[in-house]
Amino acid sequence: MDHFQYRDGQLMAEDIPVATIAADVGTPVYLYSRSTLERHAKSFAEGVAQAGDVKCCFAVKANPNLAVLGLMARMGYGADVVSAGELERAIAAGMKPEDIVFSGVGKTEEEMRVGLERGIGQFNLESEIEGVELAAVAEKTGKRAVATLRVNPDVDAGTHAKISTGKAENKFGVPYDLSADIYGRLAALPGLEMRGIALHIGSQLLSLDPLEAAFKRIGDLIAKLRADGHTISRVDLGGGLGVRYKEGEVPPTPEEYGAMVARVTKDWGVTLMFEPGRVICANAGIMATTVIRVKPGIAHPFVIVDAAMNDLARPALYDAWHDFAAVTPNDKRMVANIVGPVCESSDTFAMARDIDAVEAGDLAVFRSAGAYGATMASTYNSRPMVPEVMVDGDQWAIVADRIPAATIAAAERVPDFLAHPAKGGAD
Ligand code: LLP
Repeated sequence: MDHFQYRDGQLMAEDIPVATIAADVGTPVYLYSRSTLERHAKSFAEGVAQAGDVKCCFAVKANPNLAVLGLMARMGYGADVVSAGELERAIAAGMKPEDIVFSGVGKTEEEMRVGLERGIGQFNLESEIEGVELAAVAEKTGKRAVATLRVNPDVDAGTHAKISTGKAENKFGVPYDLSADIYGRLAALPGLEMRGIALHIGSQLLSLDPLEAAFKRIGDLIAKLRADGHTISRVDLGGGLGVRYKEGEVPPTPEEYGAMVARVTKDWGVTLMFEPGRVICANAGIMATTVIRVKPGIAHPFVIVDAAMNDLARPALYDAWHDFAAVTPNDKRMVANIVGPVCESSDTFAMARDIDAVEAGDLAVFRSAGAYGATMASTYNSRPMVPEVMVDGDQWAIVADRIPAATIAAAERVPDFLAHPAKGGAD
């Protein structure tokens, strides 16, 4: 359930017609529903609370907009960040540094220093060498870095290969079989205060089975580490819970997820941490777009919309499905290919899709676009940066401006030496 529903034949964002916002801000534009974000944040937190002592850190990468992060902060969420940029955003949005976890496979020494200076709550180490480096940075600044070791449990998450992270061949974490030895060596470093384990096996998981298998392996590891004399007080179970993008998909509910976690972890005696992203914001956002024109095709017409792969990259990158719906449907249907104006064939949102019949000038939306949407946008083809709007009942506000192509170009320079003939002797 979300708050983008039809009322009197037109699509609303909470109590505002989508058409009102589109007329004012233009398209393409992302719209987020405050009520949906808050409801999802609440139901996830309540779901995992079944497992006892828990802490939720919103995965900033899913939607780093400051307005969204501010809402999460007020819902009691900390943040899971993967760069100094995300870290500063989380703090700017009101997240407490001690509630911030620094994940990410390539933290630089500078990012480690920023994290330590800001006093963040935890670093999730991706390798032994990273731990050694973090310990050195911490010692230099006279601090001890609180850390967990990210373990790769070698479990197939059963999701798209590009968003799967928990198989042995993936770049994330340390191999399960080596993890106890690595943990032991890291725990001996004076610059580190090792507290436990982290894992994250992938995103958009529609089954709890791989998560359960991975968590059970972690349970065995905790027992081994404790037998080795380590105090294990935290386990970060990552994110990954899937959402419904397409009719027929039935993702596990946060309640079911929480019940599984509670069952598997009941004897662990640790603080459990979670890094949900998609499950909170995917269905709390849509992207509105205008049909530029409909062009005949061989099998099906091409509905050319003013949004493109630079605005919503997921279909091009992962063949992802986003429902497409007219803002004022006329009860007619058509089968069409939905494409953007960018000059490559991967700028395709859907092929041979049965959709509301639309024509030039019509407004439509891509649903389930609140996670990994605007944040993955670019200005490819010198298109503007897509704006974002937050809706709250009958109020709405722009929470990220459209950045015109000219503003992007204004940051570019043509060096003086290009005014002279090329050294190679081009004539
Ligand atoms: N924690 C870690 C360490 C992660 O790498 C991720 C996502 C999350 C938490 C949040 O996962 P979630 O709850 O959102 O599934 N751009 C892709 C998704 C990439 C996910 C990367 N890591 C997409 O559009 O599907």
